[in-house]
This record gives sequence, structure tokens and C-alpha cells, in this order.
Amino acid sequence: MNKKDDICIYFFINFEFKKIMCGIVGYIGKREAYPILIKGLHRLEYRGYDSAGVALINGKQQLNVYKAKGKVADLEHAVESKDISGTIGIAHTRWATHGEPNQVNAHPHYSESEELAIIHNGIIENYAVLKQGLIENGYSFKSETDTEVLVQLIEHIKKTDKTDLQTAVQLALNQVVGAYAIVVLDQNNPDKMVAARKGSPLVIGIGENEYFLASDATPIVEFTDKVVYVGDEEIVHLRRNKELSIKTIGNVVKTPEIKKLEMTLSQLEKGGYPHFMLKEIFEQPTTLATSMRGRVNIEHNNITLAGFIDNKERFLNAKRIIITACGTSWHAGLIGMHAIEEFARIPVVVEYSSEFRYRSPVINSDDVVIAISQSGETADTLAAVELAKSHGAFIYGVCNVVGASIPRAAHSGSYTHVGPEIGVASTKAFTAQVAVLTMLALMIGREKGTLSQERYLQIVAELGKIPEKIKETLKQDDLLAEFAKTFTYAQNFIYLGRGYNYPIAMEGALKLKEISYIHAEGYPAAEMKHGPIALINEEMPVVVIAPHCGTYDKVVSNIQEIKARKGRIISIVTEGDTIVRDMSDYSISIPATEECLVPLLAAIPLQLLAYHIAVVKGRNVDQPRNLAKSVTVE
Ligand code: G6P
Repeated sequence: MNKKDDICIYFFINFEFKKIMCGIVGYIGKREAYPILIKGLHRLEYRGYDSAGVALINGKQQLNVYKAKGKVADLEHAVESKDISGTIGIAHTRWATHGEPNQVNAHPHYSESEELAIIHNGIIENYAVLKQGLIENGYSFKSETDTEVLVQLIEHIKKTDKTDLQTAVQLALNQVVGAYAIVVLDQNNPDKMVAARKGSPLVIGIGENEYFLASDATPIVEFTDKVVYVGDEEIVHLRRNKELSIKTIGNVVKTPEIKKLEMTLSQLEKGGYPHFMLKEIFEQPTTLATSMRGRVNIEHNNITLAGFIDNKERFLNAKRIIITACGTSWHAGLIGMHAIEEFARIPVVVEYSSEFRYRSPVINSDDVVIAISQSGETADTLAAVELAKSHGAFIYGVCNVVGASIPRAAHSGSYTHVGPEIGVASTKAFTAQVAVLTMLALMIGREKGTLSQERYLQIVAELGKIPEKIKETLKQDDLLAEFAKTFTYAQNFIYLGRGYNYPIAMEGALKLKEISYIHAEGYPAAEMKHGPIALINEEMPVVVIAPHCGTYDKVVSNIQEIKARKGRIISIVTEGDTIVRDMSDYSISIPATEECLVPLLAAIPLQLLAYHIAVVKGRNVDQPRNLAKSVTVE
């Protein structure tokens, strides 16, 4: 399978460390680089937004570096009276989760002589040893970052070995332990730049006598659809008007593999919506249809997942399926567990990747591991995949970003195909993950014979109707916007669901926490009486997912327990329901569907509720504080 962005970690002298989410952009060609770089930074800003910087070599062979704390707009403001000319340049956007971001620590970083400048995503683990050696050689440091150590090392090697930039980068990287995507400029060589990656993503766009470079394809798509995904431990030499050349750190020459970018510019625009998140919520009828296109054949009531068919035996012989993921993807995994156990009768465990990788999990060679990740770059999930692989397990990726590290590491898999998801809070990727896992469960069940043909046909037919039913559900947006106004006072929310809808309760709570900063808990409805019921009073909003399904009557009883304690009920019910509706303070209905498909509909009002509450509270919906879209450090 196939790539996205990135986090850097900076270690400090006192061994406190900072984790930083970064986006990098580069350009070399015939045009002025600055506007391209700034636009690129804006495109990547959804990943990091605490500081930004740019380096350009102008016509007089001067290497100018400008940096600013804050957003890309602050950088634009900071360079207003500066020389921003040059047809070669690099730029960086950064977001710190620990410690204060400042201008000195922002990228690009100059080398000692200020002849070189570097941008970097990742971590140089042995930076301290390298730094000590450089200090002994007379180098001084302005920042406390590992990145500055790397650029100084490159300069040191370049000068002492009297070598060119590319070789100096190669030799330096041979001394480095860690992860990186780097790009280096040399003011004495304004016709080339050198980039390299290990662990952190890097994509090169190939235009007419020009190259673009970025952490993901979003800054590139409006200029070219020809891209090269830089492989691990590869060093790329980008020269003006010359072919791209790639070799590994170990000096093996590689032929660039040019791929066509399956992304359109309109996918990166808000298309009239005030926020990407709202756009992405409303895209779900389309994205769900796209995820199923070519897979669910409505006419013949059939599902075909190529990734499964090619590896059928691994699934049919699996004694156990381990699903590993983080965040929203983990919630999708829980729904997948329900479907796989119900239809395929294979035991499933769902693991937080960060927990899984650090205990001593029992992994057998006949296990199938399903790794779910929108970005395909989440460090913990990638590490979990590598661990499971090393034990001989078969890895199936369910990812969105084509060419990302997890799909590349997987033996097989299915892309969710929802296009770029820009809003930090995942919405359309989640529903597509659930759809893909449901398709997988149905296919395994049918092949194994644990699911009758009749049931299989019923569910497949219903799956085909889901995009239309999501469209119906979205019509209640105005109503949810009204409800939202009522609940902005709340400090806490409880979300309850059972069975397939328990993960939806957790996902609804996560959405609210992420973007409105209201504390929320998702709980299995029946467990409420074992603790959370103590929290219920007339101020506590309780969102109950109560569609017509197997546990409906039980959920009705749970609602009564809340009502008795004066909690305020917001219910998600099946169209035509009167019982729960009458018990609720507020109610939203979703079309009737198969129980296993309810999460695909129930997720929608919860996404909208969180969205509207966040908007009323004036939150930055697309770039919520402290969060990152793609978490590539542990
Ligand atoms: C971050 C994002 C979440 C996402 C999680 C897992 O926390 O903010 O929206 O669910 O990472 O990301 P992945 O790309 O692996 O699905």
C-alpha cells in the first residue's frame, strides 16, 4: 500500500524534550519560490501551527532565512520588508506539544558559516554526542535543537572532506541515529538542493524544469500530478533543469519511480464551507460511495475487496485477528471487531497501538493484524505493524493516504479512498474505515460459511443504501445547530451506547473533546450504573445512541435511570421511534438500517453536534489546540 506528515522531537540540553509536528516544503525551478512555499505552508498548516520559517537563495547568491513564531500569516507579516526573491527555497511549519515554540527554535536553521540552511522533521537521537564533537571543533549553537546539530555536521564534513553537498549529507546521515526528512540548501550552489528521508515522509513533485518537495502531496497538487515518494534512507539530488537523481545512504543508485497523484485541488479547498470539518462531514455520502465503488456491486449484491481475495487463505486460517490503531481509528477498529466476530466468527482483539507495542504481546504467525490509520503515518501504529511483522503475522492495512508508511509496510490492505482529510478531527475517514472493515467482515464470513448467503445479501444491499441514508441524516444539521446553542454551558458530557454503538459513544465524546474542549466520556450504557451515574444531575447532558436494535429495551431502561436523576437526554433514535423520543429533551432520528450499519449513520449527528458546539464556543474547529493530524512520534 502507500504517505503523510510529521513530527519532530527536539531534545534539550537539560534532557527535557519537545515533540514537534512539522510540515516541510521546497521549490527549485524557474518561478519565484516564495509564493509557492508560503502557499505550501498554508496547505500544511493543518498539521502544525506554532511557528514557521523560510530560506531562499536570491540572485546575488545570498541565503536569506526568515522565521516567526505563530502561524504562517505571522511569517508573511515578518517578511513584509525583506528580500524574498529567489527561485530556490525551503520552508517549514512547526507545532510543539511541549515547551514554548520560539523564533530561535523554528526552522530553517543556518550552519555556522550561514552558507547552509536546513529544514527537518524527525529526531536525531544521538544529537548530544554529535554536538559535543562539533563544539570541540569550534562550532557554536544558537538553538537547542537537534536539527542545528545536523546542519553543522553537514557543514563540518563538507569543509573538512572538501566534498560536495550531496556527499556531505550522505556522510552525515551515516553518523545519524534517528528519523528525519530533511532538505538542505547551499548558498554557493543555488542550482541544487539535497533532500533525504528516514522514517518521516517526503514527496517530490516533478514539473516542467522545476521540482516541488513537501511532507505530503497537498502543496504539490496544484502544480503537477507527477510525484516520487522518497523511500527510506534515500537521498535525493534536485538540480535545476536536470534529472532527479536518487541514491541511498549506503550509496546504491535508485531509479526514481514516478507515480500519478490521485488528488485534486478542489479536495484541498473548503468549497464554500466555513470549515474543512463541516465540508468533510457533508462529503460523507460521496466518500462512502467512493469507498465502496468497485467493491460493493449493488446489481449482483456482491462485495469484492482485492486485498482480501489475494490473501484469502491468511484470513480463513487465522486463529485470531488483532486490530491495532490510535484515536478515532481505534474506535473504527472496535466496530470492526463486532462485525468480524458476528459474521466471520474469528476472535478479535482491538489494541491501542501504543500499548500493544510496549508490552510483550503474544503474536503468532497465523494471526492477522489489521492496522487502521487515516494518515498511514502514526508512529505507534507503524511500530505495532513492524512488531507484528517480525513475529510472522500477516499485516492488513486500512489506510487513507496512498503511499504512506503503514500501507507500504503492510502485506496487503484496502485504502479508504476518501481523499485528503484536512480537519484535525477525523470524520469522513472514520466512516470509511468502518465501511471497509464491515466489507471485510462480510467477505470473510461468506467465504468461511459462517454468514448465510441470505444474510450476506441483505446486508450488502443495505450497505449500498448507506450513502443515501447519510444524506437524509445530514438534513438535520440545522436542528443540531440549534441544540448546540443550548449545551455550550456544559462542562461535561456523557455519551452512552451499547454493542455496535458503544464505540460510537466513545467517538462522539472524542469529537466533542477535540474541538470544543468540553470534557466528555463515552460509556457502555449498562456500565453507567457502576460509576458515572453518580455524575448525573440536571446539568449533565447525556447523549444516548438508542436505535432500534437488539438492546433497544435495555437502553430504554438506562435512559429511565438517567431521567430519574434529572439528566438531560439527547437521543439518537431510529426514524418513527416514539418511546425514546418522548423520554428525551432533544432527539435526532436516523433512517432504519441493519444493526451493524447503524454506526455509519449514528456517527453523523454526533460529528455535527460537536462541530456546532465548538463553533458556538468560538473554537478553532479545524486546528484545535494541542492536537495534530498525524502523530509521527510516540
Ligand atoms: C491523531 C488525530 C486523530 C486520529 C489519530 C490516529 O490523534 O488527531 O484524528 O484519529 O491521530 O491517526 P491515524 O492517522 O493513525 O488514523
